[in-house]
Amino acid sequence: MIDTSLRIIKNENSKLHTVDFSNIPFGRVFSDHMFVADYENGEWKNASIVPFENFSIHPANIAWHYGQAIFEGMKATKSINGEPMLFRPERHAVRINKSAERLCMPAFPNDLFMQAVYELVKIDQDWIPKEEGSALYLRPYMIAMDEFIGVQVAQKYRFVIFCCPVGPYYSNAVKLKADPFYIRAAMGGTGEAKAAGNYAGSLYPAKIARDEGYDQIMWLDAKEHKYIQEVGTMNIFFVINDTVITPPISGTILEGITRDSVLTILKDNGYKLDVREITIDEVIEAGKNGSLKEVFGTGTAAVIAKVKQIGYKGEDIEIDSDNFKVATFLKDAINGIRSTRLEDPYGWTVIVK
Ligand code: COI
Repeated sequence: MIDTSLRIIKNENSKLHTVDFSNIPFGRVFSDHMFVADYENGEWKNASIVPFENFSIHPANIAWHYGQAIFEGMKATKSINGEPMLFRPERHAVRINKSAERLCMPAFPNDLFMQAVYELVKIDQDWIPKEEGSALYLRPYMIAMDEFIGVQVAQKYRFVIFCCPVGPYYSNAVKLKADPFYIRAAMGGTGEAKAAGNYAGSLYPAKIARDEGYDQIMWLDAKEHKYIQEVGTMNIFFVINDTVITPPISGTILEGITRDSVLTILKDNGYKLDVREITIDEVIEAGKNGSLKEVFGTGTAAVIAKVKQIGYKGEDIEIDSDNFKVATFLKDAINGIRSTRLEDPYGWTVIVK
């Protein structure tokens, strides 16, 4: 896997001893190394793993003005034997390039992506929390680097991957507000890309929802404001009677890798699945008539997040999240595969040697 073009400079001042692994706040603790590569004159160069450090950026950097910025979130865990492993890394390599295409950014070579995450996890393997359900969260991202404030496609880019040891993203079941007004994405927009701007636009409606006592927004479609799309930073699933339902990837929804894993596991375990449009009215009605058995979000950071309440137009429905069977099964299945406690029949895990 080693390619001589990847330079590695070891951090001689590890901060590992300062970390309390029993209490890790999400996204605030950073490992010893990071990967950096620069794009200039039509090619990626200077691919390096270096000590984690600040970098200096010109005040006119174009990414800060017009938002050519995309990212991924992926996880490394440890096997029962203590070997570091990655979960479906090649899917993240592909997805970041889909985002890059939509934002008019250069593709990042898949093999360099794979080599970078592999070597980064290898060098920082002691930063992977051992506890099942915790992980080393890898944050690959790409930003434009031109020192210019005309609105145009940049010529220079930087690709970075850094790592944070993390525990579970949500420790409790969440309360959602189905927003009848604000939207996350419209058809033809950037909703399918993991673009920084999508998250910026979500902050104001999410703040209003939090002020009203909810944790996250359940996003509805931009045209009719009735079809459920996704939730906060996750894809969404409903169990109505004995069928698991999730909206299709239709141009506005992020193509979640955990979503795909969940669909595969459910199908292989004989669950009834329906990937179809679902309206907020149908969910509220199912909540009232008792057929809504479970609601849960899926995402890399959260894995599976149970939902205990949905508010819509001033009305709330409660869901008995203490008794979710499907969500509990899925969380156990994914965390079990990620720790080698369960067999990986899909070849999703890549052991780092
Ligand atoms: C992830 O699940 O990896 C995400 O991208 C969520 C992140 C914004 C915290």
